[in-house]
Amino acid sequence: MEMLFAPAKTATKRLYIESYGCAMNLADSEVIASILKENGYQTWEQEKDADIIFLNTCAIRENAEDKIWHRLKALKGVKKHKPDLIVGVLGCMAERLKTKLLDESQLVDLVVGPDAYRDLPGLLAKVDDGQKAVNVLLSREETYAEIAPIRLNSNGINAFISIMRGCDNMCSFCVVPFTRGRERSRDPYSIVREAEELVAQGYKEVTLLGQNVDSYKWTSDDESETVNFAGLLELTAKVSPELRVRFSTSHPKDITDEVLYTMLKYDNICKHIHLPAQSGNSRVLKLMNRTYDRAWYMERIHKIRELIPECGITCDIIAGFCSETEEEHQDTLSLIEECQFDFSYMYYYSERPGTLAARRYPDDVPLEVKKRRLQEIVDLQNAVSRVVNEQSIGKVFRVLIEGTSKKSKTDFKGRNDQNVTCIFPMDGVLRPGDYANVLIERTNTATLIGRIV
Ligand code: SAH
Ligand code: SF4
Ligand code: F3S
Repeated sequence: MEMLFAPAKTATKRLYIESYGCAMNLADSEVIASILKENGYQTWEQEKDADIIFLNTCAIRENAEDKIWHRLKALKGVKKHKPDLIVGVLGCMAERLKTKLLDESQLVDLVVGPDAYRDLPGLLAKVDDGQKAVNVLLSREETYAEIAPIRLNSNGINAFISIMRGCDNMCSFCVVPFTRGRERSRDPYSIVREAEELVAQGYKEVTLLGQNVDSYKWTSDDESETVNFAGLLELTAKVSPELRVRFSTSHPKDITDEVLYTMLKYDNICKHIHLPAQSGNSRVLKLMNRTYDRAWYMERIHKIRELIPECGITCDIIAGFCSETEEEHQDTLSLIEECQFDFSYMYYYSERPGTLAARRYPDDVPLEVKKRRLQEIVDLQNAVSRVVNEQSIGKVFRVLIEGTSKKSKTDFKGRNDQNVTCIFPMDGVLRPGDYANVLIERTNTATLIGRIV
């Protein structure tokens, strides 16, 4: 009975990953889970009972990093009772702070940047040997193209597909080029395969992800074939007419008419464009190094409205960038009014060390002024959203049912093509993953409320 004396075998170590920041980080966490699964680690849904905790971090604004420092402090308490717990900081903040994270937090065992995830098994082995482990090398080629992500916290309906990494734009306020390195595009055929696999598993919607999807450009090794973003969009749309295709983020300087025509050509490409303006003033846009001005941005908006009148358009705005005057702030307000965005993500400027703006321009708009300007932007956008949503009353939208409404167990929630959340009573027939035709009867700031017809 030899077996009785064999040591209890814990087959796999349990890995719990927390993702912060943008969708790219969520997608990366799914790649990380996949790489580690191949090496005998199992992803775990809760923090409790995990052997390893990874924080996949964001560095975009100071408060994004503050959140991680707080989390690390809290984990210190956990580690007191569980000395074997391994804590890793991954992602953009890991890339930005590098070994500083080890110096400033005695708690952290490993620090891994966005291009070094293939090295995780080796780094974890090092930690097992009692060492600290760091890899923050950026790459010009890594796209994790052939790694099949393990979907985390998935509803089995929507999935992200990362189509490119890094960013070459150097917007003066932005830390991303430093944390994610040079832009590179993933092999389109690996993207199509991933979409096909998702369809086979019953998924109904994919979102193609990149910091600037319009500059997607892939060239085959023998240089006989190139695929641009419009081409990739078309390849993905053709995977299945039942698969919805979304994409984010579009850059005003790069979004082409060809992309708009491709959206028109395929019913399953959602009519929604996230087109961050950042500011409505041309001088500020120049300081931001966005490489377009207000007139250029407005021309793109008019073109979208002309070709795809029903298109949802959403925006990102930064309030109180370096030297922004009150009049320039008013230009941002008037841009929001003029563009009638469905929705915007709005922030006040947060200086990031090492960026062009941090080196060149004093962060001279006082915090109270930034906050007041931001509030004016938020108030106006909310008012615009209400007006835009009211225009949907009486219309019927095709909505992909994604689950049960948070507020009511008898209502479904889903999104229409334009990416607006719709809430409507269940009909006893349709289920999550089905499409429903929903007649909109009421609205509030963020959602459309109606019934299945
Ligand atoms: N690649 C996307 C944006 C990625 S970051 C684009 O070019 O539009 C997401 C958003 O965070 C940005 O659009 C911007 O509005 C905001 N952001 C980035 N850096 C910031 C900073 N330093 N302070 C405040 N907001 C910032
Ligand atoms: Fe940052 Fe600009 Fe690149 Fe967007 S396009 S990630 S804002 S540098
Ligand atoms: Fe944040 Fe990195 Fe995304 S800085 S917004 S997680 S690319």
